[in-house]
Amino acid sequence: MVNVAVLGYGTVGSGVVEVINTNHDSINKKAGDEINIKYVLDLRDFPGDPVEKVLVHDFNVILQDPEVDIVVETMGGLHPAYEFTKSALLADKSVCTSNKELVATYGTELLKIAKEKSINYLFEASCGGGIPIIRPLNSSLTADEIDQITGILNGTTNYILTKMGRDGSDFDEALAEAQNNGYAERNPEADIEGYDACRKIAILSSLAYGRHVDYHDIYTEGITKITAVDMKYAQEIGAAIKLLATSCKVDDGFYAMVCPGMINESSPLYSVNGVFNAIFIHGNVLGDAMFYGSGAGKLPTASAVVADVVDEAKHLHRNIMMNWSSRTLKLCDVSTMENRFFVRVKGSVSEKIDKVNEIFGRVEPISLPAVPGEFAFITKKMKESEFKAKADQMGEEILGRIRVFF
Ligand code: HSE
Repeated sequence: MVNVAVLGYGTVGSGVVEVINTNHDSINKKAGDEINIKYVLDLRDFPGDPVEKVLVHDFNVILQDPEVDIVVETMGGLHPAYEFTKSALLADKSVCTSNKELVATYGTELLKIAKEKSINYLFEASCGGGIPIIRPLNSSLTADEIDQITGILNGTTNYILTKMGRDGSDFDEALAEAQNNGYAERNPEADIEGYDACRKIAILSSLAYGRHVDYHDIYTEGITKITAVDMKYAQEIGAAIKLLATSCKVDDGFYAMVCPGMINESSPLYSVNGVFNAIFIHGNVLGDAMFYGSGAGKLPTASAVVADVVDEAKHLHRNIMMNWSSRTLKLCDVSTMENRFFVRVKGSVSEKIDKVNEIFGRVEPISLPAVPGEFAFITKKMKESEFKAKADQMGEEILGRIRVFF
């Protein structure tokens, strides 16, 4: 029997208990042993819930029980999740988690402890919810040198942007609806400001490139400035606006960025709508691959966590090598990254086009009858710093800009 303790009986933790109970027989068969939930830790009581029989309020009960082999950390947040995870690993218990903040912040240290102790720290559910992506990166794509990862890694923002594109609603309206439908949290800052996607691309990049990518080093821009007018222009040029989390190898350097971007039908990410997530990967021998599915939610996320429990049950006291060294990958300064930009300008084409052409080179103006008093254009590819200098010359005449990835 493999004994498991679940830390936190919230959305994901209760999902883990539900998945293990629902698919008990097939999970045991795949694990080659019986998976038994010995404890669930939560500060709250759950009167009438079957979990009552295994509920504890003190983490030390779990830590000091030598029969506990695997700890499932589904508490979220950094503290006390970090302290609990570290002490569980030091006590020879494998840990698996859905906590992207913890993995992005302390993953290097926790993986090192797991390796030294010949146990495991697994985190399939930390990126892309139920989509298998950590395991493919760590075990299936090992023949490749990965040179690009671009993902729609946040379901909340993808829901909001999809809604804005479909209904013509403005950001605040779409956010309120996402909150009413339970997709967005009451405090949605981590999602809409891009912080959640930033942590996820840091984790994926650390695994793909084999060195620790510090999420603090990743340039991050959220979706709060995207408007219904931006969506109208995007539709006019056959594009969709998505919050993209990307990292890539250019020559010998690596860039990483989270920002709203315009993509068109040529991108496999174009049709990823609503709360779905997808991760596009390019490898030097594989070429393109895409992973698509439910990026959030109780059962999809729990499915990924339980897959880690099964893997850990199959590898008790044997470390699964992770391609994530403690050396930090120094990212290139984003100001040297080359991009194209969609730019909106105040005024009419006849008034402003000469100045725009003088500063940006010859561009094709885009005017929409439904949006009087302004026009837009797309620049050629240029360094971020070059774009900033040109945009500064235009000053307040620029109403907004979005990176273009086609
Ligand atoms: N808030 C996250 C999202 C949950 O919207 O994608 C899954 O990590």
